[in-house]
Amino acid sequence: MAQKSKTSKDETVLGPTGRPYQGFPTPPKLDRHGPARIIALCNQKGGVGKTTTSINLAASLAEYGRKVLAVDFDPQGALSAGLGIQTHDVPTIYDLLLDTKRDPREAIVPTATEGLDLIPANIDLSAAEVHLVNEVARESILSHVLRRVSADYDVILIDCQPSLGLLTVNALTAAHGVLIPLECEFFALRGVALLIETIEKVKDRLNPTIELDGLLATMYDARTLHSREVLERIVETFGDKVFETVIGRTVKFPDASVAGQPLTEYAPEHPAAQAYLRLARELVARGAVA
Ligand SMILES: Nc1ncnc2c1ncn2[C@@H]1O[C@H](COP(=O)(O)OP(=O)(O)OP(=O)(O)O)[C@@H](O)[C@H]1O
Ligand SMILES: [Mg+2]
Repeated sequence: MAQKSKTSKDETVLGPTGRPYQGFPTPPKLDRHGPARIIALCNQKGGVGKTTTSINLAASLAEYGRKVLAVDFDPQGALSAGLGIQTHDVPTIYDLLLDTKRDPREAIVPTATEGLDLIPANIDLSAAEVHLVNEVARESILSHVLRRVSADYDVILIDCQPSLGLLTVNALTAAHGVLIPLECEFFALRGVALLIETIEKVKDRLNPTIELDGLLATMYDARTLHSREVLERIVETFGDKVFETVIGRTVKFPDASVAGQPLTEYAPEHPAAQAYLRLARELVARGAVA
C-alpha cells in the first residue's frame, strides 16, 4: 500500500496516510506477563471494522507472544463467532456483569489461537443495560470484572457494540485506551465528534487516565479517489492520532469470519493479514501495548 511521494526529490516512500512509510520492529519477547492494558474498540457507527479489528489485532498480538484476552461486548456475539466460539448455554460476559462476585475465569474460554482467550457474549447481553441501570456504580461494573483477571494478560481488547449507551460507557470506564476504527467511506467522520465528547466526559467523571490511542482507517481502497480523499480528511482532522497502518478493503475478511478464524491464520500472507500484524507492531512501538 506504500506509494512513492510525487513531491519529494529523494523518492521517500510515503504510506497511505502521507507520512514516510516505516516498518515497525518485531516486538521484543516478554519474560513476564501482566498487568494488562485494557483497550476499548469503539465507534457507535455500525459496520466500521470494530469486530474485525478486535479479532485480527488480538490474534496478531498473540502471535507476538502477548497474552491477550478478547472481550465480546456486543449482544450480536460477532467476536465470539469470528473466533469460532459457540455462545449458547455457556457463561458469558452478561453473567459476570450481573454477579460481580463470580470468578470471571468461569467465563473465559481459550480460542484456537495460542495465547488468545475470549469472554463470549450472546443475545442475553441486550438485557444488561436495563438490569444495570439501577446498580450502584453502574458505569464501573465491567472495570471491576476485568481488574480481577488483569494480572493474567498483557492486553485486554473490548469489542464494543455500535452505540454510546451504558455498555459502551462501561467499556470506556474500564479502558486505559480507546481505538476508533473508521471506515474509509462517506460520513466516516460523522458522529466521531460525539464519540470524542463521550470519551471526554468519561475522562472527566469516571476514568481520568483514559487516552485516545488512535484512529484506524479500515476498508481503504487505494484505487478509488474517494477512499484516498476520505483518508486525507481523517489525517487532516486527527493528525498523528491516525495510525500509520491502514487496513485495505478485501472480501477475505468475511470469508475468514465464516471460517471462524482470524484472517492472520486463515490467510496469513494476505496483505490485510499483514496489515493487522503491522498494527500490532505499531501499537507496541507507540507504547499502547507492552
Ligand atoms: N477491511 C475490510 N475489508 C472488507 N470487508 C471488511 C473489512 N473489515 C471488515 N469487513 C466486513 O465488514 C463487515 C463489518 O465489519 P465488522 O463486523 O468488523 O464491523 P463492526 O464495526 O464490528 O460492526 P458492528 O457495528 O455491527 O459491530 C463485516 O462483514 C466484515 O467482514
Ligand atoms: Mg462488531
